[in-house]
Formats: sequence, C-alpha cells, structure tokens
Amino acid sequence: MALHIVDHPMVQHKLTIMRKKETSTRHFRELLKEIGMLMGYEVTRDFPLAPVEIETPMQKMVAREIAGKKVVLVPILRAGLGMVDGLLMLIPSARIGHIGMYRDEVTHNPVFYYYKMPEGKDRMVILTDPMLATGGSACDAIRRLKEDGYKNIRMMCLVAAPEGVKRVQAEHPDVDIYTASLDEGLNENAYIMPGLGDAGDRIFGTK
Ligand code: PRP
Ligand code: URA
Repeated sequence: MALHIVDHPMVQHKLTIMRKKETSTRHFRELLKEIGMLMGYEVTRDFPLAPVEIETPMQKMVAREIAGKKVVLVPILRAGLGMVDGLLMLIPSARIGHIGMYRDEVTHNPVFYYYKMPEGKDRMVILTDPMLATGGSACDAIRRLKEDGYKNIRMMCLVAAPEGVKRVQAEHPDVDIYTASLDEGLNENAYIMPGLGDAGDRIFGTK
C-alpha cells in the first residue's frame, strides 16, 4: 500500500533539529513528542466523520464527529514510546499496546521480548517506531499483530530507509507507512544514513 511522506514544514524543521548531533536528550525527546502529534494529523486524515446533533449556546446544529474509529497505539520498545505522548494529545482515548524487541548488534535481526495488547481486535493499530531501517523489527511486529487477529494496521516512523520501506511493502502490502523522511540508505551496521543515530539512546540518554 501507500508510503506517505509527511513533508509539512514544521515537521521537517523539527526533524532537522533532531538530526543534529549536538541536540540534547531533553530537546530530542520534546521534538519527537511534537512530531508525533503533527504526524498524527496525517495518519488520521481519512478517519470518517458522522453527523451529530448538538446545541451551541446559540442554537441547535448538526456538527460532525469521528465515526467510531477505535485506535490502539502500539510502540515498538523502546524508541517507539517517544511518539506515543504526541499521538495521545490528538487521540486521548486511544488504548496502548506494547511490543518489545531490540536488534541484535551482529545479525541486525530483531530479538522479541514482550507483547501486551488491550482488548478489541477490531481496533485500528498505529504502530510507532522512529526508525525503519532494515524493516526487520517492523515486519516482525506487524506479523505478530496479524497472528493475534489485527487487520487494520498503520506504521508511523520518523525516518525510513528505502530498504526498510521495500521490505514492509513486500511482506505487508496492506500496511500504510507514514514517515517524515525517506533517507539515503543503510550503512554497513544497518544504521540509517544520514539518519539521526540511535533513536533509543538519544531519547533515553543511554550510551
Ligand atoms: C531500533 C529502532 C527500531 C529498530 C529499527 O531499535 O527503534 O526498533 O532498531 O531497525 P530495523 O528496521 O533494522 O529492525 P533498537 O534495536 O535500537 O532498540 P531500542 O529501541 O530498545 O533502542
Ligand atoms: N536503529 C536506530 O536507532 N537508528 C538507526 O539508524 C537504525 C536502527
């Protein structure tokens, strides 16, 4: 399915600050939260609206409200957590699931360690992870969600490598990908270039 590049100037400006190596952990975290909310506008852009009768202080009117789209936000631990608070500002009633995995430093393959989802397989899943590199973590996470019964899944990342996008599109063609940038590619350690380094370390101040 589709690759959506969120090229809004505010998102691009904030991403540029995040990429800079001198940006502090505190600032990096704040910016990721802000971008999470801004990208949320695009991820939810096609949510259907339904008419609802309300009364303003002046008169009755038929207004519009989101029509029954129930959402579960699913960060891939750890780094995906950094986008959740921003999305919650937009969708405060969303439920939250968690998928834990980290990349093996040698093989670059994901190592799974945690899975916990709320009730309701009919919910739309917004899977978050700032970095889509080889696509191994995203594909594994999506596969587990599908095996668990989820059918409506969107992937939101901050920076994507063409290799990762290709892999997700090949293995999960039904999953739309939303990213702020399609970068040049991967280096020999499967890091995104130019990228922004290790997202988890930059969010949590580890290393
Ligand atoms: C990073 C990132 C993704 C994954 C992307 O996580 O947050 O989950 O790597 O790489 P891939 O597309 O090649 O699978 P990491 O393993 O560093 O774990 P962390 O979030 O706990 O730091
Ligand atoms: N994980 C990261 O945090 N950064 C990359 O560039 C690739 C994987």
